[in-house]
Amino acid sequence: MVVAKKYVIQKHRSGLLQPEDVKIVEEELPELKEGEFLAQAHFISIDPYIQYLIHDEEKHPVGSTIPGTQIALIYDSKNPKFPIGKYIYGNFGMRTYTIGPLKDDDPYGMPPQYILPDFNSYPYSYGLGILGMPGITANKGFLGLCKPQPGETVVVTTAAGAVGSVVGQIAKIKGCRVVGIAGSDEKGKWLVDVLGFDKFINYKRPDFAKKLKDAAPDGIDCYFDNVGGEISSIILSQMNKFGRISVSGSISAHNVESGEEPKASIVQRHLVLRQLKMEGFMVTRWRDEWFEIINQNLQWLREGKLKYKEHIVCGFDNFPKAVVDLMTGANTGKVILNVMG
Ligand SMILES: NC(=O)c1ccc[n+]([C@@H]2O[C@H](COP(=O)([O-])OP(=O)(O)OC[C@H]3O[C@@H](n4cnc5c(N)ncnc54)[C@H](OP(=O)(O)O)[C@@H]3O)[C@@H](O)[C@H]2O)c1
Repeated sequence: MVVAKKYVIQKHRSGLLQPEDVKIVEEELPELKEGEFLAQAHFISIDPYIQYLIHDEEKHPVGSTIPGTQIALIYDSKNPKFPIGKYIYGNFGMRTYTIGPLKDDDPYGMPPQYILPDFNSYPYSYGLGILGMPGITANKGFLGLCKPQPGETVVVTTAAGAVGSVVGQIAKIKGCRVVGIAGSDEKGKWLVDVLGFDKFINYKRPDFAKKLKDAAPDGIDCYFDNVGGEISSIILSQMNKFGRISVSGSISAHNVESGEEPKASIVQRHLVLRQLKMEGFMVTRWRDEWFEIINQNLQWLREGKLKYKEHIVCGFDNFPKAVVDLMTGANTGKVILNVMG
């Protein structure tokens, strides 16, 4: 008999996740029935939405399994479509073993599971990052909504993270001038020296508006917004006429205490006067093109046009630490929990 470990919510709170907010419980799994498979988690994706969802008492009550995606090994199978030994992406939650297949009933439209496409020699964990959901977010969220043109100036926030680092590099592939915004000078060095961004601004240092003006003296044509809040309002105030804003997230409001949500300057007058186009999206919008986009990112990786980094936290027990690393900016690149490590 297989015993699965899973993280459940123990306490809801506002602010940053604390280890005592979650606990590991064990669950004995039944024998496999015809048509089922058993998946053993190897890598778990640590995403900003986890912090956000565990605040949501209504949708995620105490005792419910923390949602999330993973790369797992098919460990046993009574389903020929999911043979033993294959690696699979699964929307299985924070758990070590799962019986599948899951039904396609995720409220956000995430795929329930699929056998990983051939990544050539790249690690399977890339299927949670550049060759998975965050890579698709970066690719289509940027190209589809911002429609960048060569020579245009692009600004991206959380620029050293899983999504932002890919957005900036795709902007470079498309011939744009790229300004990355992130929270440490070390991240900035990586963005400029390794990834080829043109400019970097540390948003935690003073005079952000002036530094942005210096970094983008001709104004901003495209903004990929991962943060919201005042930083985004300042960026919008420096956009050019007919600029495009792709709204991907609002992480500046994710781990604040209740009642302390950031207040930001009004943006409507910039939208009106500069005739800007601002559009939010969910990556699941491109579910029909999922594998096409993964292949495009894979192609750019192989050509050396995209570079990629992971921030790996080892051990299932370290899930809370991995979330805190992500939410406090300790990561450069995609945060992955290595369950077997
Ligand atoms: N719309 C969609 O379908 C979709 C899908 C996936 C992801 N997203 C969004 O994409 C964004 C990035 O996600 P990711 O997975 O790539 O995470 P990530 O960028 O790898 O990690 C999160 C980063 O956010 C930054 N951060 C934390 N608190 C912040 C604050 N108060 N203000 C500004 N920056 C802050 C930290 O970097 P610093 O050192 O720079 O502070 C941290 O490294 C998130 O907003 C996420 O919700 C959207």
